[in-house]
Amino acid sequence: MTEQGAFDTNVVTVTRFVMEEGRKAKGTGELTTLLNSICTAVKAISSAVRKAGIAHLFGISGNTNVTGDQVKKLDILSNDLVINMIKSSFTSCVLVSEENEHAIIVEPERRGKYVVCFDPLDGSSNIDCLVSIGTIFSIYRKGTDDEPSEKDALKPGRDLVAAGYALYGSATMIVITTGNGVNGFMLDPALGEFILVDRDVRIKKRGNILSINEGYAMYFDPAVTEYLQKKKFPKDGSKPYGARYIGSMVADVHRTLMYGGIFLYPGNVKSPNGKLRLLYEGNPMALIIEQAGGMASTGFENILDIQPKNIHERCPVAMGSTEDVLEYIALCKKHARN
Ligand code: F6P
Repeated sequence: MTEQGAFDTNVVTVTRFVMEEGRKAKGTGELTTLLNSICTAVKAISSAVRKAGIAHLFGISGNTNVTGDQVKKLDILSNDLVINMIKSSFTSCVLVSEENEHAIIVEPERRGKYVVCFDPLDGSSNIDCLVSIGTIFSIYRKGTDDEPSEKDALKPGRDLVAAGYALYGSATMIVITTGNGVNGFMLDPALGEFILVDRDVRIKKRGNILSINEGYAMYFDPAVTEYLQKKKFPKDGSKPYGARYIGSMVADVHRTLMYGGIFLYPGNVKSPNGKLRLLYEGNPMALIIEQAGGMASTGFENILDIQPKNIHERCPVAMGSTEDVLEYIALCKKHARN
């Protein structure tokens, strides 16, 4: 680090970092441009999220039914921002958003080679009580010269060229992988830039934190019930795991990445594939966790190996420290045999 007084005069911004990676890989710079456009959207969403409370208190929205509307507005605003920023970067041809029923096919004159899937504001039911929320994205290369279509997004996560998330928490952070490890960048509000703060993040091999919505215990499969029992009443003399569940996937996965442990959103008798969406929740988070040395599974197969059949399909999720996830998988397999 080059420092003069209190200032680092050689900061690594996210653009610089991705550009350097692209240069090493002899890329065209198109991915850097695309990631840059996503970062711009994230900065704007961050600013909107931070203002939401004030707008709510003072009724700036001019709407009497502020609560419901405010949440909806932020969702839509975030979606519009991500779509507009990506489209205007001339780097993509197909966009899949949690907010849009069908894939968005980019106009021919603005097309580029990437396919982007995203959840513009994940965990948005948490907005009104100021709990952390996030943006999640994953990027594929289109790969063929055919007319772009929804089918271009139906690829296993293994084929992703990049993925990441932004967390609007006590600070705004963006965590990215381009298939070469995981790096975290903090938004410096004074500069309006994301600065590298966590280089080559590695997840612990085993953690001691368990993250699941246990309120649904009556619907859990026996494997999940047995796993929770093992963690709460260990018989090998070890301490029970701590429980943490925010209910915002980005925040729960980010904590799992930083502190280790396991994040679970399993299938259950009511919804066999759980709640989380494969293309813009399961896959991008699985790639980040795997690139950090962890593991992401449905309990039976690696999330990144799933062949998607439709753009909004769901998948059961168990991700985090490898030893924790393996222990969970062993119980899923045991119960499947019985
Ligand atoms: O899919 C949206 C989401 O808010 C995720 O961010 C989060 O992990 C999950 O839903 C929480 O769901 P539940 O309220 O069922 O625990």
